[in-house]
Amino acid sequence: MENSLTIKNVSKFYGSFQALDKINLAVPEGQFVTLLGPSGCGKTTLLRIIAGFLSCEEGEVYFGDRLMNDVPPEKRDTAMCFQSYALFPNKSVYENIRFGLRMHKVPKEQHKKLVEEAMEMVNLTGLGSRRPYELSGGQQQRVSLARCIVVRPRLLLFDEPLSNLDAKLREKVRVEIRQVQRQLGITAIYVTHDQAEALAISDRIVTMSAGRIVQNADPRTIYERPNSKYVADFIGTANIIPCSVESREGDRFVLKCAYGTLRAIDRDCTLQPGAQASLLIRPEDLFLAAPGSENAITGTTRTVVYMGNVLDMFVDVNGTSLRAGITKENVVTENAPVTFAVKPDRIRILEA
Ligand SMILES: Nc1ncnc2c1ncn2[C@@H]1O[C@H](COP(=O)(O)OP(=O)(O)O)[C@@H](O)[C@H]1O
Ligand SMILES: [Mg+2]
Repeated sequence: MENSLTIKNVSKFYGSFQALDKINLAVPEGQFVTLLGPSGCGKTTLLRIIAGFLSCEEGEVYFGDRLMNDVPPEKRDTAMCFQSYALFPNKSVYENIRFGLRMHKVPKEQHKKLVEEAMEMVNLTGLGSRRPYELSGGQQQRVSLARCIVVRPRLLLFDEPLSNLDAKLREKVRVEIRQVQRQLGITAIYVTHDQAEALAISDRIVTMSAGRIVQNADPRTIYERPNSKYVADFIGTANIIPCSVESREGDRFVLKCAYGTLRAIDRDCTLQPGAQASLLIRPEDLFLAAPGSENAITGTTRTVVYMGNVLDMFVDVNGTSLRAGITKENVVTENAPVTFAVKPDRIRILEA
């Protein structure tokens, strides 16, 4: 399948500060790709280069096989959905959405049908005559989305579109964004610093740090097989502690760490015996076990917090903290001995 977007060796400097360092990225037609990373890592910069609002000093941006570097934003056939919505306050919902069609010089007689279709798709039917201030935040975001999709752009671009919404609404609107994108089959590039949002919405997550791509993979791989401590720590909750590789047989490892001696199965690990490494255990991969079980980890509970769906606890194991999340049916008290175990294939070995 043809790539909708290809970014080759793109670097960007603001004066002497390098905001992007040789970014390479290929996005197949119809995919939903998220740029994820902490504030300042270059997500918005990359998105603006794709949209054409910013130029880059090095590298190329292709839509299909067409080089876009010198093509102005209004000729790129993209639509950007902002956090601030960027709606006209004194225009109606209908007029706000129609604005996109006028910009793209779509013949007038098609406007009504296209705007109504877009409004239906984002659940705004019947609200066409309202002004933005007569809408909730979620509805305003839907108007902004409708204005983007009404022109059926080749690329949909989102820059933290849900930041102004409360947590419940964010979860709802992100599902709607995903549905609309799927329905239309438009390639989407979505910027967020929220890892849960990235996991929920994406076909692929491009994890960035300080102007570079650290890992580009599907959500399950990013969460279960992070390629670095950085990704493991940024996505989800993680126990990451130093370990040494004692022995290895194929993909089977014996590790020594503050939690004790643990067996791990990790087909991605290339480290040899004697190597210093880090190991990753997700809190939900720990389960209560009898002392002496395979991969038993024994410690003392420090805090046990009832979270409704899980018991979230911090455990002291030989002076090192271990975070565990177990099902609420279990009864665990604070300051009591406890033994967990973890399956070998749930331990990831990462470079120290
Ligand atoms: N116009 C600018 N001039 C100078 N530095 C900038 C400018 N825009 C962004 N930066 C810097 O570039 C880096 C990346 O910014 P940005 O792409 O906005 O990051 P993100 O969207 O991931 O938070 C930051 O360190 C930011 O301070
Ligand atoms: Mg940004």
